[in-house]
Amino acid sequence: MAKTKIENALSALAKEIKNGDKKITFFQGAGISTAAGIPDFRSPKTGLYSNLAKLNLPYAEAVFDIDYFEKTPEPFYILAEELYPGKFLPTKFHYFVKLVQDKGLLKRVYTQNIDTLERIAGVHDKYIVEAHGSFANNHCIDCLKEVSGDIVKECIYNRKEGSRVPLCPDCNGYVKPDIVFFGEGLPEKFFSSWEADANEVEIAIVAGTSLTVYPFASLPSEVNDDAIRVLVNKEIAGDFKVDKRSLDILILKDCEEFVEKICELLGWSSELEKLIENGKKEVMSSRPTLDDKGKERKPGYIDGEFTTNSSKEETDIVEKLNESINKLNI
Ligand code: OAD
Ligand code: ZN
Repeated sequence: MAKTKIENALSALAKEIKNGDKKITFFQGAGISTAAGIPDFRSPKTGLYSNLAKLNLPYAEAVFDIDYFEKTPEPFYILAEELYPGKFLPTKFHYFVKLVQDKGLLKRVYTQNIDTLERIAGVHDKYIVEAHGSFANNHCIDCLKEVSGDIVKECIYNRKEGSRVPLCPDCNGYVKPDIVFFGEGLPEKFFSSWEADANEVEIAIVAGTSLTVYPFASLPSEVNDDAIRVLVNKEIAGDFKVDKRSLDILILKDCEEFVEKICELLGWSSELEKLIENGKKEVMSSRPTLDDKGKERKPGYIDGEFTTNSSKEETDIVEKLNESINKLNI
């Protein structure tokens, strides 16, 4: 039987990877984490923005806007409670990146995600560029001093009657994790890494991103003409749409299915399964299954039992968010 377009695209990529003479640079976004139960931003029904748009916010992206945060930080912290790292397990895609690292074929991982799942899957810090920052560090937005993550976590998870917004111990200003908000610059590491890497990209795998937020969105257009650019996404996006190149490989598919298929073609399937199994055990053993009060943790949530195929959990997050934001009355 004749091969489909996607099968041809997968075979072409497998051939390039098997050759072993080119390294892979990943450019990724929220779509690689939806299988972990984290909603993306712009998918029409399930995305965070379409759900936030129903609420009483001036505009959906306001939750990540620095000017809005300065006056009204609560919506961000409602979201932070749902998205805080530690609740989710890496997806097959994250373990695929780790496998590429183990094979000595990884050049760099540029990620827009703030969920740190690349790290949890075991990808080494030296390869990771978190273009939109992360929850790892926090600063006061008034005096700019660094504030301990424990203060932020305590406030998010164990708030008593008080506000869910952590305050600076020195000046009482609002504390914000070092996530890049609209209106803020990207971390220095993003620019220095890209300066070093831009001309050295050989295989670019762009995955799970709508390529709408700049400057990240322009990276695939800046790689050299002889680079092989691969788009793994449910829909065509960015430069692949407006300026398609002859070497481009389009795999318009679910990221998790992509990983299964490409690993089959590469003969990596059993290694991938082992990585996932061991990774899951390792994460689970580092997280207690009971909460402070000795109660069993809720499935899918922090320190609890995890499932990785969870549109149900995505819906949970959006529902909880709706409830909490509606209560705010802003
Ligand atoms: P978007 O929500 O804009 O795009 C996600 C893309 O992934 C869409 O094109 C989806 O169709 C696709 N997708 C979703 N699930 C998928 C799956 N399982 N398999 C394949 N494709 C899938 O998310 P980003 O492009 O990451 O900024 O958004 C960029 C930035 O906008 C984010 O970093 C965030 C947001 O404002 C900050 O948080 C600062
Ligand atoms: Zn301060």
